[in-house]
Amino acid sequence: MFIDTHCHLSLEDYDDIDLIVSENLDSGVSKMIVSACTKESIVESLRFAKKYDCVYLTIGYHPSEVLTITDEALLTLEDFLLQEPKVVGIGEIGLDYHYGKENRKEQLVLFEKQLALAEKHRLPVVIHSRDALSDTIELLKKYPDVQGIMHCFSGSLETAKIFIKMGFYLGIGGVITFKNSRLSEVVQQLGLEYLVLETDSPYLTPQPYRGKKNSSKYLPLIAQRIADVCQVDLEQVAKVTSENASKLFDLK
Ligand code: NI
Repeated sequence: MFIDTHCHLSLEDYDDIDLIVSENLDSGVSKMIVSACTKESIVESLRFAKKYDCVYLTIGYHPSEVLTITDEALLTLEDFLLQEPKVVGIGEIGLDYHYGKENRKEQLVLFEKQLALAEKHRLPVVIHSRDALSDTIELLKKYPDVQGIMHCFSGSLETAKIFIKMGFYLGIGGVITFKNSRLSEVVQQLGLEYLVLETDSPYLTPQPYRGKKNSSKYLPLIAQRIADVCQVDLEQVAKVTSENASKLFDLK
């Protein structure tokens, strides 16, 4: 049994959501935590969460949305956080200076407002941080009670240890299966204790399917790579990463 802690689910990407969900369950992925991070995808994903037992959500506003998010949109987000039982966290939120460096100031404001929501409602966060490591760390330090996942972690061992010390798990996805990735060495040194699994589907498809559209059904390939790297059984990877995810998101 695996838990995909970060995927996206939309009719824009998949023609048949029933089929995607049943394929995921067949491959051993018992829970999918959909990251709904635009106004539109939050509304759409809430429908899926109501329809499918295995679908949970984190909701929040992605840094790429920064120029469209008003205070009213943040109030709507807070309403959903309070009212929707399958919303288990806030995300993905964070900073992206790769694509949005010109909006750096606005991104920092939006990120901080959502961290404050996480603190207020005691909810875990899923963090997107691209080319923005030091600002991410500085801002998270202001919210020491907020825990969560560093989504798509691919940093150094030193960076991993900083986030772990701050109460974060590392989201490990398809990148670990890529030949040129140094993530395997970091994971080997860390062990399983602070890892959770994620696909970030439909993006970042693991090998040997890189180039195809990703879905949670490929999660076991990521888990197998971690098992090989850490020299443990696949079942052990499933067990520890699922326990980590269940604990963080308080999943039953
Ligand atoms: Ni994502």
